[in-house]
Amino acid sequence: MHFDAIGRVPGDPILGLMEAYAQDPNPRKFDLGVGVYKDAQGLTPILEAVKLAEQRLVDRQATKTYIGGHGDAAFGKVINELVLGADSALIAEQRAGATQTPGGTGALRLSADFIAQCLPGRGVWLSSPTWPIHETIFATAGVKVSHYPYVGSDNRLDVEAMLEVLNQAPKGDVVLLHACCHNPTGFDLSHDDWRRVLDVVRSRDLLPLIDFAYQGFGDGLEHDAWSTRLFAAELPEVLITSSCSKNFGLYRDRTGALIVCAQTADKLVDIRSQLANIARNLWSTPPDHGAAVVATILGDPELKSRWADEVEAMRLRIAQLRNGLVEALEPHGLRERFAHIGVQRGMFSYTGLSPEQVKQLREHHSVYMVSSGRANVAGIDATRLDLLAEAIADVCK
Ligand code: LMR
Repeated sequence: MHFDAIGRVPGDPILGLMEAYAQDPNPRKFDLGVGVYKDAQGLTPILEAVKLAEQRLVDRQATKTYIGGHGDAAFGKVINELVLGADSALIAEQRAGATQTPGGTGALRLSADFIAQCLPGRGVWLSSPTWPIHETIFATAGVKVSHYPYVGSDNRLDVEAMLEVLNQAPKGDVVLLHACCHNPTGFDLSHDDWRRVLDVVRSRDLLPLIDFAYQGFGDGLEHDAWSTRLFAAELPEVLITSSCSKNFGLYRDRTGALIVCAQTADKLVDIRSQLANIARNLWSTPPDHGAAVVATILGDPELKSRWADEVEAMRLRIAQLRNGLVEALEPHGLRERFAHIGVQRGMFSYTGLSPEQVKQLREHHSVYMVSSGRANVAGIDATRLDLLAEAIADVCK
């Protein structure tokens, strides 16, 4: 038969955790796996601002015809402003353009194909560790993947090692940087670190690809954009992948953008023609709904302010959970050992737990996290921090 030689591949290690958790009958289970925000009730609610925008769309949207290859122009405008700042010179000079994509993952795939097709021979440098899908997206597109150190085996950020390796990257290669809330570690660069990375990027003539999936979840919507805006202001050419999955809670509506910053407005038109062409072969035209919601929210001052408050509430809850977990570990004599959880930013914490300890947590305590030791702090139930701390202490004995 035609399909006889086809074998089975293992399921995605992150998405697979959702299924394993759902099937666990233990009522005391913890879901710290996939990067999805949960509220105090353990739910991932639709944001109020999103609901209101959706209602408007139901009432007012007049057609479901295709949107063009770059998506909805209104979405492109607001996402450019959210990422680069409304007062960005790049926007005024028409040197920055957003192409709407199915989620941040779609933006990454589009950028990978763009690099493979339009910048042949350029490799991409990923942090070690990074989001596992970064590895496979670029490899699938045929882009050579190399790594720069980021967090060592001692679970500490190692900027010196990162800079040393990037300093030897071939000129012209692409370097993927996490704008904030590094996935999976939660360790972010300081402003000084970013300036040093910028110097290396400049001196090695590297092309930065900034993955910006968690705007608003680190130190705030504006603050989190600092590094991206620095690079966009200081360098003539930058690629940015932006995701609305987390900060708009639009996960399944697949909403994101690839923003290209080019040296001239004219060159941007050339690049965008290539992107539309590549996207046509990937998904033809992007899905509309999520982007229409984002355009509605960001285009209306009242909805925008309501949304910004909701993002801030999510951010603060995550920050409280981080501190709460460190406190809860204190009676077990583990405060020092896990102090980094309070320092890290965003949804994720590289806990420093070994794959064996993660396995024990799952098997003995129904605590689900990625085998690398990455925990989604946003999935913690604040009323059961003590129970979680007990489970962690048990596997650390
Ligand atoms: C994660 O890392 O858990 C999220 O980015 C969700 C995903 O698609 O893996």
